[in-house]
Amino acid sequence: MTDDPFIRWRELVLSAQSQRYQPERDLAFWQGKAADYDDSQPTLPNTVAWLRDDLRGLGSLLEVGAGTGRLLLPLADAVPQVTALDYSPEMLAQLRAKNPPSNVQTVCCSLEQAPEHVAPHDATLAAWSLAYQSDLRAALDSLKRLSRQCFYLLEDDGIGSPHVQLRRAEAGKPRPQRATLLRQALERLSWEFTVQYITERREVILTDTPALLAFARLPLPENEVLDALELYLTQQGAGWCYGWTFEVTVLAVSVQSAPVRPGLGAVR
Ligand SMILES: C[S@@+](CC[C@H](N)C(=O)[O-])C[C@H]1O[C@@H](n2cnc3c(N)ncnc32)[C@H](O)[C@@H]1O
Repeated sequence: MTDDPFIRWRELVLSAQSQRYQPERDLAFWQGKAADYDDSQPTLPNTVAWLRDDLRGLGSLLEVGAGTGRLLLPLADAVPQVTALDYSPEMLAQLRAKNPPSNVQTVCCSLEQAPEHVAPHDATLAAWSLAYQSDLRAALDSLKRLSRQCFYLLEDDGIGSPHVQLRRAEAGKPRPQRATLLRQALERLSWEFTVQYITERREVILTDTPALLAFARLPLPENEVLDALELYLTQQGAGWCYGWTFEVTVLAVSVQSAPVRPGLGAVR
């Protein structure tokens, strides 16, 4: 196996059975997912708090792959000028339906086309939006061109919800270690960056055991599902509170042509 993180990233992208590395397939996925995206995703209060602090003093923020604004809208009052860019009109429609403040503009455009259509912002954010970019080097170059001072990559190593980990293990699939590969790619490029690991918690209330089984979608009998998830379940009347913690990796990359900002030091 190669130790080149760019090749390993490409292999990971091209191994997807869904073939979402074909942009039209990924776009179709997000167009269909938009309406229930927010319900399927946790809020990220600790990550937002960290970013709010780190963005202090900056004048503009661009999120590439902003989706419904889950992450960007809670940051909107921390930066004077905010741009939400996404290639899915439906995801952006969900964002606009939340009546964002007037300093937030939306741009429907792909990351690939963004450097030609969007002026650089002080900071750029790409949160879980590079997963199907087969050419990671080109994607990182685009983010750099879009950023005057820094850009942030948010990802995880696939250690998320216990039921998804179990589903993967049952199917014999390895977990995608995207956060580690991104970090290794930045190291390979010798770009200046810092790494933060931020813990978040998610809780889902399920009204009864059939609802829990439907949520977990595991190919196991009920008693095995309950045993496997026992550590994360608290009985609530006839139902369950299912809760777990997970880690968000934040890679904060200093754009080298600009003076290094405090807090954006060398690789730790
Ligand atoms: C997993 S969602 C993340 C949304 C948001 N960043 C969040 O954390 O909630 C990925 C988003 O990236 C967008 N996206 C994926 N590839 C893109 C590309 N090449 N150009 C623009 N948007 C893209 C998708 O349409 C989708 O809205």
